[in-house]
Amino acid sequence: MADGPAAMASALTRLADPTGGGDVVTTGRVSGLSLSPEGVAGAVLAIDGLARGQADRLEADVREALSRIPGVARVRVIRTAERPAADARGIPGVGQVLAVGAGKGGVGKSTVAAYLALAFRRLGLRAGLLDADIHGPSAHIILGITQRAQATADRRLVPVEAHGLKVLGMGLLADPDRAVAWRGPMVAGAMVQMAQGRWAPLDVLVVDLPPGTGDVQISLAQKLGPSGALIVTTPQRLAVADTRRAAALFRQLGVPVLGVIANMTALAGPAGEVVHPFGRPDRQALETAFAAPVLAELPLDPALTRAADDGRPLDHGPVVAALDRLAQDLACRWRETGD
Ligand SMILES: Nc1ncnc2c1ncn2[C@@H]1O[C@H](COP(=O)(O)OP(=O)(O)O)[C@@H](O)[C@H]1O
Ligand SMILES: [Mg+2]
Repeated sequence: MADGPAAMASALTRLADPTGGGDVVTTGRVSGLSLSPEGVAGAVLAIDGLARGQADRLEADVREALSRIPGVARVRVIRTAERPAADARGIPGVGQVLAVGAGKGGVGKSTVAAYLALAFRRLGLRAGLLDADIHGPSAHIILGITQRAQATADRRLVPVEAHGLKVLGMGLLADPDRAVAWRGPMVAGAMVQMAQGRWAPLDVLVVDLPPGTGDVQISLAQKLGPSGALIVTTPQRLAVADTRRAAALFRQLGVPVLGVIANMTALAGPAGEVVHPFGRPDRQALETAFAAPVLAELPLDPALTRAADDGRPLDHGPVVAALDRLAQDLACRWRETGD
């Protein structure tokens, strides 16, 4: 089904963009075409400039056109107010934007994001961490940051420097307890400001995205234009089901899923025996579920939990070693592809 998106694009060229300029594919009105092995056709519909009724009619037409394609069992349309500009990927002056996502909270997404940023730093790269988890910011806790981010005269946010990283997050903007109550538009504004912060020059910016697959994830992924995404999950089946949706969303937005990180897969017992708190990880099953390689398996390291609570990141141990290897692999890959 390699020509799935091509067949989809050709079916959609029969639909005119209601605001003119040609068909919906040519004008970029519909983008992010994807077809999963299970026959789920995905498309992103930009509704800027359309009246409500027009948007509804166009979505119905898109659904109808896609559902007629052989091999399409279901159609998933994501609406967005912003049109992703193909040339506007990433953040100026930042080499790589790497998104870390998860289907649900509590799987270790923020821990992985922060420690991965630290691993890039240890490699000698200029690294940053953007904590975009609005309602559960934690970069400031893991890294033990008590300062607040300042803004320049032209109202650009200046990341806080900690452990050799540039860091921004809700926990560095306001009283984190109060930020939780921020309403949608305020949150969106803060996110834009953080994305437009003074990051440059940076080799890699790791973004800790909020868990789930809602509007926030979509607009963030579009604003930040990550060059790739990592998915964090714990090995139990419940977490995997949620996480698959997160992976599908990235793909639909045109962000390649580089791989999966299985977290808290094993724990050393008091007698040195190994236990699997969330079940024994089945690498093969995870790779099939996500259609992406498992890039790292991280054990549950009690010293790491304590370090996070104390705000004093570890520089050794099994998790650090595994993420150092992962950072190295990713850095090599970027060097090879020359971007
Ligand atoms: N590999 C690990 N070993 C030990 N503790 C971990 C590990 N990964 C995460 N934790 C702990 O689990 C809790 C949840 O992790 P966190 O990164 O905040 O998850 P999320 O961002 O997915 O909600 C935290 O207390 C964190 O310190
Ligand atoms: Mg978190």
